[in-house]
Amino acid sequence: MRSKSLGKLLNIERTERGAVLTTDFGTLAVTFHAPDTVRVQAWQADTERETFSYALADRPTAPFTVQWDEQAGMLQLKSDELTLHIHKNPVRLQFFDATGTLLNEDEPAFGISWIGHQATAYKTLQPDERFIGMGEKTGNLDRRGSGFSHWNTDFFGYGTESDPLYASLPFYIGILPRSRRCYGIFMDSPVKSHFNFGASNDRFASFTVEEGEMNYYFFAGTTVADIVKAYCRLTGTIPLPPKWSLGFHQSRYSYYPHHEVRTLAQTFRDKQIPADVIHLDIHYMDRYKIFSWDKERFPAHRQLIADLKNMGFQVVVICDPGIKVEEGYEPHDDGVAKDVFIKYPDGTYYRGQVWPGWCYFPDFTDEKARQWWGEKFAEYVQSGIEGFWNDMNEPATWGQKFPDLVEFSYEGQTATARKARNVYGMQMARATYEGTKKLMNGKRPFVLTRAAYAGAQRYTALWTGDNTSSDEHMLLGARLVSSIGLTGIPFAGYDVGGFVGEPSVALFARWIAQGAFAPFFRCHTMINTRDQEPWSFGEEAEAISRNYISLRYRLMPYIYSVFYEASKSGLPVARSLALDNPYDDRVYNTNYQNEYLFGPGLLVCPTESTRTITKVFLPEGKWYYLYNNQPYEGNSEVLVESPLEFLPVFAKAGAIIPMQSLVQSIREAHDGTLYLHVYRHNGSSDFVFYEDDGQSYDYERGVYHRRVIVYQGASHELILEAAEGSFASTFTNLKLILHGFEEEIGDEVLLNGQPLATADEELALLDPLPNFDPLGKPILRVVQQNKTITCPLVKQRMVFKW
Ligand code: NOJ
Repeated sequence: MRSKSLGKLLNIERTERGAVLTTDFGTLAVTFHAPDTVRVQAWQADTERETFSYALADRPTAPFTVQWDEQAGMLQLKSDELTLHIHKNPVRLQFFDATGTLLNEDEPAFGISWIGHQATAYKTLQPDERFIGMGEKTGNLDRRGSGFSHWNTDFFGYGTESDPLYASLPFYIGILPRSRRCYGIFMDSPVKSHFNFGASNDRFASFTVEEGEMNYYFFAGTTVADIVKAYCRLTGTIPLPPKWSLGFHQSRYSYYPHHEVRTLAQTFRDKQIPADVIHLDIHYMDRYKIFSWDKERFPAHRQLIADLKNMGFQVVVICDPGIKVEEGYEPHDDGVAKDVFIKYPDGTYYRGQVWPGWCYFPDFTDEKARQWWGEKFAEYVQSGIEGFWNDMNEPATWGQKFPDLVEFSYEGQTATARKARNVYGMQMARATYEGTKKLMNGKRPFVLTRAAYAGAQRYTALWTGDNTSSDEHMLLGARLVSSIGLTGIPFAGYDVGGFVGEPSVALFARWIAQGAFAPFFRCHTMINTRDQEPWSFGEEAEAISRNYISLRYRLMPYIYSVFYEASKSGLPVARSLALDNPYDDRVYNTNYQNEYLFGPGLLVCPTESTRTITKVFLPEGKWYYLYNNQPYEGNSEVLVESPLEFLPVFAKAGAIIPMQSLVQSIREAHDGTLYLHVYRHNGSSDFVFYEDDGQSYDYERGVYHRRVIVYQGASHELILEAAEGSFASTFTNLKLILHGFEEEIGDEVLLNGQPLATADEELALLDPLPNFDPLGKPILRVVQQNKTITCPLVKQRMVFKW
């Protein structure tokens, strides 16, 4: 069998914002979804055109027009942002931006080709072209020279080059350093797919779907951020998470019985290590049966959960999809009665083995089964549980050979596992999110998933599964989370300390420091490993853990605001440096590729636990070493000391970072002062500060507090625009901490034109930490000489000038 590509154009049918083109081999449809987004579909005569996708968020776009221009050999479709050339013989595509610069083109000989039912789009590989994205993929930040597959896989102890893992996020961004342009491609097919970025060839980048139509979206944008936002306009953004879920999570496989959980919680409080969440892994259940409790290990679970809540802890329970085949077990009997399980084509239920033994599996691609699943959470919710950890949802079954012919509803269309597998985990997360949201009376559930497909961000956070306790995995984790962030899922993290194996003291300490700057921050480890709590590795690691976890809590006003931004635009929380500096080669240098910005203002440089001096790359601009304000000129590679107590972190000149006083859990009240850290620069920068109750959906009705903060460096002005929304800020005082002004603030500081007070030259800590310094070393307590200004915080516009 030879390959065949789209052939000569035979007929054009004009559609509302595009065209359907019949060729002598296969049909092509192009449709502008937005001025910067074109959908491309191609199918053979015996394949049906796809009308449905789980990935899409269905957000309406504002009206726009597409100009149509037909010439002899070519058809041109043009919006304000993107021009598409469709060559007629053979049918091939070229994409240009608004300036007429070529972004991407079909490989002239191959275009879109088929081998049997397998469809591939071939794109000419451009000189120096780089590729980033692809979600949860190992390997380097720059994907050039590599290939990947998307097929959700339970991969225990995966390696730093293993593929595929648990989640399929088939979206990438092409970077063209020569023309300084970038573009995005999202191939929206859950069928097993393969991407090739010039692996084993020097001619093309390609993407392949093993069966069904070729279906992809092409995004044009001036910046990588524009492209990520365009992708998120299509596939959706996160709902605002409950604020407690941004705190520290402690997990292991598994904490039991009940008194061990109580001791764990009490130890955090006794040791003054902030934490908000304890995860219960599979041993809380009666013989691993979902929706049940082991009555011996947890005889009074409701009381336990209530007591933990009183201590400021939420409990997250693990939920696996497998329903044990056991008569008399309610979810089994009810599931059979309501017929919600996936089946073989002969109508009998599929059985696979997981923790409880032989199981049936709910068909999450069926609205009826999703509803059924969602209602089953009633007991958990009545018990006070607000967080649900969806595991094993690739789905994983012992033997790891889920039969292809098993059938799923796929919203009434019937699909085999070949099509449904990659969306199964996402639909489980959806069923969990939608079901628990209904049950929780207006409170926000937290859902965490292992398996995912594009668009899963609308329902869930994601963690990167069964990593290993090694330095390589710690660094890989940073890269994975950045890559997952580029592909629409900002709320992601890894098992801090590593799941498989045991970390050294140094590795654990370093990993906690790095994890404090991960969007999702959880320690977790495998069954039968040594203890892996912040105090399990001796005094030094404990002190480092306390300091970094405390720092995270003090950063909460900043972190929550960054999550707010992610919920609006889809911009990641952990931002690969390629986001802002895509054309700088050093970003992709394997020494620096793990670095990222945590929110817009903090540069985090993941560093091996064994390195006490490390070289970091500082992008264009100016940077301040977080712990002592030392300024560095960017566009440079610098050596910094990196003893375990100090993970290299820098604040960006111009950064505006709202912080709060230290609390031990999110629900504990802070001291009422907003500590607004501002880092000197000469340009103009801004930050949107956002607050709400952190737990309800009232923000949808305007109950929030949002204010734009603008810092005009040249004129030494800081403007807090009037606050919007009806939520009363929890902060009543403001303390400005101006970094980088050692000698230069005059006596007079004006607030709205009136003299305010003298800027205090005080020895300010980042803000006060409890007096804890067991090693006689200053841990995160470096004294800085900052100028501070303190005054009441009001809702109205406030203009500071110094
Ligand atoms: C596999 C998950 O990846 C891991 O985090 C969990 O501890 C085990 N399943 C047991 O539930």
